[in-house]
Amino acid sequence: MAWSDAGRPSPKPARDADIGRFEVKHRDGRARLGVLHTAHGAVQTPTLLPVINPNIRTIEPREMWDRYGIEMLITNSYIIWKHDDLKVKAVTDGVHALLDFPGAIMTDSGTFQSYVYGDVEVGPEEIVAFQRAIGVDVATMLDVFSRPEMTEEELQAAVEETLARAGPSVTAAEGTMLNGPIQGGHVHALRRRSAEGMGEHGFAVHPIGGIVPVMEQQRYADLARVVMGSLPHLPPDRPVHMFGCGHPMLFPMLIALGADLFDSAAYALFARDGRLLTPTGTVHLDRLQEWPLLVPCVVGCSPEDVRRMNDDDRTTLLARFNLEVTLGELAACRQAVHEGRIWERAERRSHAHPALREAFLWLTTSPARGSAPIPGSEHLLVTDRVAARDTSPARGEWEPAWDWIVEAQTTPGAGAVLWAGEDTFVRPQVVAARRRLHAAWRPRTTEGPVLIVHGASAPWRDRVGRQVERALAAHPGLEVLVLSPLGLVPWALEDMQPFAHVESPAWLWARPLDPAWVRRELERLHLGGRSFAGLNLRTGEVGEAVDDALADLGLGPRAAHDAAGLADAAAAILAEQARSKAMVELNLDRATAEAFVDRPTFVMSSTGRIRNVLDAEGRHILSPRLTDGGLSLTDEGARRLHALCSPGEQGPPVVTVPDDAVPFVGAGRNVIHGFLTGVEGALVPGRTCLVVDESGGLVAHGVARCTSREAMTFRKGIAVRVRGGLRSS
Ligand code: GUN
Repeated sequence: MAWSDAGRPSPKPARDADIGRFEVKHRDGRARLGVLHTAHGAVQTPTLLPVINPNIRTIEPREMWDRYGIEMLITNSYIIWKHDDLKVKAVTDGVHALLDFPGAIMTDSGTFQSYVYGDVEVGPEEIVAFQRAIGVDVATMLDVFSRPEMTEEELQAAVEETLARAGPSVTAAEGTMLNGPIQGGHVHALRRRSAEGMGEHGFAVHPIGGIVPVMEQQRYADLARVVMGSLPHLPPDRPVHMFGCGHPMLFPMLIALGADLFDSAAYALFARDGRLLTPTGTVHLDRLQEWPLLVPCVVGCSPEDVRRMNDDDRTTLLARFNLEVTLGELAACRQAVHEGRIWERAERRSHAHPALREAFLWLTTSPARGSAPIPGSEHLLVTDRVAARDTSPARGEWEPAWDWIVEAQTTPGAGAVLWAGEDTFVRPQVVAARRRLHAAWRPRTTEGPVLIVHGASAPWRDRVGRQVERALAAHPGLEVLVLSPLGLVPWALEDMQPFAHVESPAWLWARPLDPAWVRRELERLHLGGRSFAGLNLRTGEVGEAVDDALADLGLGPRAAHDAAGLADAAAAILAEQARSKAMVELNLDRATAEAFVDRPTFVMSSTGRIRNVLDAEGRHILSPRLTDGGLSLTDEGARRLHALCSPGEQGPPVVTVPDDAVPFVGAGRNVIHGFLTGVEGALVPGRTCLVVDESGGLVAHGVARCTSREAMTFRKGIAVRVRGGLRSS
């Protein structure tokens, strides 16, 4: 059946200056929603490039464009080069006319044929020149396939030979976008060498090569190791393509780790064998009474109807089924990135196959981290993670890759952490939030006991706020903490995401305090060695429970109802809230946080929450963000902060823009990639930064959309979303 809907217009070519550039529009940790700009349109990523065999077109490329909205496909230049009829047409009319596809076309080089058949008859420069001559959008160099069974020496030779061909291949491409595949088996040092070496050449895209047999053998933990060995070492402004990966089951994990492009021959190959792809595995048509997913192409027909079709019709229908399922899963993954929940999707999907679960456990388990859900909470450990820790190959060299995942995390602005068992506690967003708290927060006092509120879920202030006020009025040296399922949190941060908002069974909040764990957790909060007592909100009357806990600490009861004393304590708590949040959100040490939030006054909401924080001179410097318990800096706050901090040492990270960008950014326009000249400190996507000119003068403040390395690498897109321009004339 030919598809004859001429409805979808041809793509708009990118501006010449943009061709080959990759731009990130939205992100969730290392997962990114991007755009790759090509001469045949903008390709939205993550995306699937269906493989088209120019000799066997199971679904016509034109239909891929018109009906399925495919923006880019991949075909094989070596097959075209080998077949005279294809070659003549491609050279004369171009590859887009040969395939009748108006979108972007990537071609492979013959490396895979060399892996399957032992050799190819074309040289590295010749095949690149050929791809350029037939007008492909993204060509591929002739890399050397690293087979999993190769010895380390052989793998190294494959990496070195690929590297040796890189320079001549880029030259032969004459500006055509080129794929620079990363090889090296699952040897960490070789993947890293390959990624760093290939990254130095002018490639547009980096495919991860040599993974087809790894996936065929369902060695998904090895696949995870390959990805974690390669991606952190690639230039971040280039999209990453998973060569030969078209099984939707793998998409969530790979996207969460930073993959942008996938290609699939699986939709057609599996169809020929009567196999159907689903997001949780593969099923055979012969065993089906019902469809595993109701996608458009099978509405109105049953598996039995399809079994009765002739071979060609059945294969085409199953190929459509596979393509529709694959595209549906990719769309769901993109939506998850939008929502900041791609890791959760990967986590859930990891249960689809034992080997995928193994990969996920490996990713989230580390001897260095003690494998504990909350570091140090070994008592919560279940056997799976202990086993994964004890049997995984040495994890040490991959540990920086885990940090690379964690450092890019944004705490979601709104919405609860959805508890899903132990995995919840090793989500990179949770790990990042805990690391930030432990690195930045410091207690008010250098000694004095600790009261830990536990036994019930947030909002704690509503349950026990008055009693805490009275306890602090009587004992200003007391440190008060609350127990969230994600760990201990200072009272001043009790409404902060993700700690305050965990959707979970009540028993998780009501967990008894384990003294050994509490002691380790206090160490992390710089409260090590202090005496502590629990205030269990589940037992008895709260006021009495507070007095009992104070008595356990050797302290007298709460203060009586003395209006002035209580008002002072309440004001001190509000000041401490603003200071604690400034430490964690703006990376201030305590002394600077106290200087910044100096003798503050507050504008309060009708529900008793802070609306604005004013400093001693009455300047509005901060506003709490009600959605996530964080802080928003005002223009005045940015000026004060800039005056107080020395860039790079403490305070928010600082981005420098060149003189010609100052008028724009100073007037409130965003900082655009390519228009910044330096970064001091570590930018974290979603977090505050300052923008200065070349002399260090303040220009603006805003929210970073990238890490520091990305800021210095990307050439297109927004680097900092400016919230306040401070140079408007
Ligand atoms: N297709 C699947 N794997 C590979 C690979 O490693 N290199 C190339 N060029 N193509 C592939």
